[in-house]
Amino acid sequence: MTHSGKQTIFKPKQQDFLIDVRGLTVDFDIGNHYVRALHGVDLSIRRGETLGVVGESGCGKSITWLAVLGLLGGGAKVSGSARFDGQELVGLTPRQLTAFRGGRIALIFQDPASALNPVHRIGRQIAEALRLHRGLTGKAAKEEARRLLDRVGISNAAQRLNEYPHELSGGMNQRVMIAMALAGEPDLLIADEPTTALDATIQAQILDLLRDLQAETHMAMALISHDLGVIADMADRVSVMYAGRVIEEASAEALFERPAHPYTRGLIGALPDIDGPRHRLEAIPGAVPAPSALPPGCAFSDRCSHVETICHKGPPILGLVGGEDDHSAACVRLDAIEDQELNLASQPSKLVHQRAGLQEGVEA
Ligand SMILES: Nc1ncnc2c1ncn2[C@@H]1O[C@H](COP(=O)(O)OP(=O)(O)O)[C@@H](O)[C@H]1O
Ligand SMILES: [Mg+2]
Repeated sequence: MTHSGKQTIFKPKQQDFLIDVRGLTVDFDIGNHYVRALHGVDLSIRRGETLGVVGESGCGKSITWLAVLGLLGGGAKVSGSARFDGQELVGLTPRQLTAFRGGRIALIFQDPASALNPVHRIGRQIAEALRLHRGLTGKAAKEEARRLLDRVGISNAAQRLNEYPHELSGGMNQRVMIAMALAGEPDLLIADEPTTALDATIQAQILDLLRDLQAETHMAMALISHDLGVIADMADRVSVMYAGRVIEEASAEALFERPAHPYTRGLIGALPDIDGPRHRLEAIPGAVPAPSALPPGCAFSDRCSHVETICHKGPPILGLVGGEDDHSAACVRLDAIEDQELNLASQPSKLVHQRAGLQEGVEA
């Protein structure tokens, strides 16, 4: 879903990126010292493209984007670079960032209740976003709010405008939040676990809606999820995060067909087979370490079945995988494990269709 129709003139690759995050670090003030939670993250998204960002809870998926948007608060030190359409965002004042947030860059969360104001009617909240980002007021704002609610699949839109968030279901509120995000006509939508709190059927509907809207508006999307089924269904490219780093990056196709990093292989191997019996999934043993308690060297080493002494020497950097120029992984043991048979429980083609069944097996 990238740009087509480019001239034959050579352009550096970066120019294609709507957002280009380089070497992003986050340090949290934890009283008497700082602890590093993000260790130099590189991510990029082209116009119209969906980047899936996946990893277990606590890997740094959310703070990456909160850091980019200046939403981490005073206790966090952010450095590195995040260029949005050529404009550096890191280091902007809160006031300068407000011009981007909710406008050209919109954000939706897992929990719409936390983003919607419980004491204001839906219509007023959407109208306020329209005033802020598009200067619409009065009848024009009301009409556009109704159109947006209609567009996100809320029936009786005119009537719903007069309701409060608590009168709507979780799925409906998520649609309202998407409508508010669309109010600013964003070039980039950051969707952070947008369907995690919803049941499987509603989840599928919301993802379909996001896909349709994206095709219509050509907005780019960062889709954050701990659910590989969602990522397989939606993403063009995928960045896998672990303990504050990107540890593998590839096209969705390459990632699901030829996962390289032992962590990615573990995540994919833990998915249920759609044809097989339903059973509780065996996740990768252990848990993501806290930022203050990383093992020396590779942060995944204490959970990795391929660990060797060399893994403790230092954190591995991303290197190209198997001669593919758009597939990289951060593991010093890649050569040794590459040839080993990967016993994938699921094939990517199945993943796309089994999403609805995933919720039953995966403990979020
Ligand atoms: N304000 C904060 N202060 C200290 N640590 C934090 C703060 N916010 C997040 N963290 C830590 O940063 C790490 C990454 O968090 P997060 O990005 O929320 O993970 P994810 O979204 O991948 O589940 C976690 O270990 C989390 O505990
Ligand atoms: Mg998160």
